[in-house]
Amino acid sequence: MLDLLVGGMYGDEGKGKIASYMSLNGKPRYALRTGSVNAGHTIVHEGKKLGLRIVPAAFINKSTKILMPPGCLIRLDVLYKEMDETGIKDRLGIDANAAVITQTEVDEERQNAFLSKEVGSTVQGVGAAESKRILRKLKLAKDYEELKDYICNVPLLVTEAMEKGEYAIAEGSQGHLLSVYHGHYPYVTSRNTSSSGILGEIGISPKHVGEIVMVFKAFTTRVGGGPLEGELSEKEAESLGYVEFGTVTGRRRRAAPLDLGLAKEICRINGTTQIAITKLDYIFKESHKKRRYEELSADARRWIENVEDKTGVKVAFVGTGEDVFDIIDLREERARA
Ligand code: GTP
Ligand code: MG
Repeated sequence: MLDLLVGGMYGDEGKGKIASYMSLNGKPRYALRTGSVNAGHTIVHEGKKLGLRIVPAAFINKSTKILMPPGCLIRLDVLYKEMDETGIKDRLGIDANAAVITQTEVDEERQNAFLSKEVGSTVQGVGAAESKRILRKLKLAKDYEELKDYICNVPLLVTEAMEKGEYAIAEGSQGHLLSVYHGHYPYVTSRNTSSSGILGEIGISPKHVGEIVMVFKAFTTRVGGGPLEGELSEKEAESLGYVEFGTVTGRRRRAAPLDLGLAKEICRINGTTQIAITKLDYIFKESHKKRRYEELSADARRWIENVEDKTGVKVAFVGTGEDVFDIIDLREERARA
């Protein structure tokens, strides 16, 4: 069974934290991450903070093998740096068709004023590389001699694992509203970030999917241009404590309250079976670091129940702090009840 983790809105919902919790808890055989270096995941575990742009957050479980799917795009310097930081050298596989971004694509994007100024792209070369891949001009992992020890067939490995009844986790990157198909074009990223896109990038049949977990932050943020429903002024965002800066670009994120009408629509398109809420402690300060549902205030519980009512989807995880284990696992609490 393959669980998918999908970003609900514009990315930076805290998928990194949910994925690392799910991997320590669920012990997947494989972890995969789609997308590329333009999105970052942050993990806080045992007092250490780690920002990752290629390696999936689920690496944190040492018994989990890391696979880079054919649809992902890697940059070699970032890959080597993260391999060092995470120590995954002996449990890493890269699909022969995974594509590689070079400095040429980064430079091309930096010179593209439409992308850098109007769209507000992170200009990491991802869009330029993706266009070359579509034009069949980009080099793939199999073209690099230095990667030869890691090359494997990811769709085959994952499908075989599924047929044996094993468990795997796929982490999407960015969020549904940045999808090139489903977002506010042209203020979108260069890939399909929704659940169907994740499956396409990996090359696995939908029949192997277990849960489709949609990650929503308790408030919405976005970087770059384009519409943001219910956007707050910087002052309003400050007074509510919704202030964040991007992990890849350092830019201040625009902020808005969570729009549950929109969340419902997004859940439907993605076939969401479970919701993860992160940063509940930003809205209900007293929920900070709580690990059981019953420890939440009545207001906080009502807020969660309202999310379930409005979207028609059960909440499975609630984040209450930075650490991997600052989480309420409602999957487990319900299973025990
Ligand atoms: P994705 O792009 O969705 O993977 O999210 P991200 O991990 O990139 O998000 P970001 O870079 O904004 O970093 C999230 C930060 O928030 C990390 O330091 C997490 O430890 C932290 N975080 C995640 N969930 C919670 C939560 O529920 N409460 C608090 N206080 N912090 C959280
Ligand atoms: Mg991020």
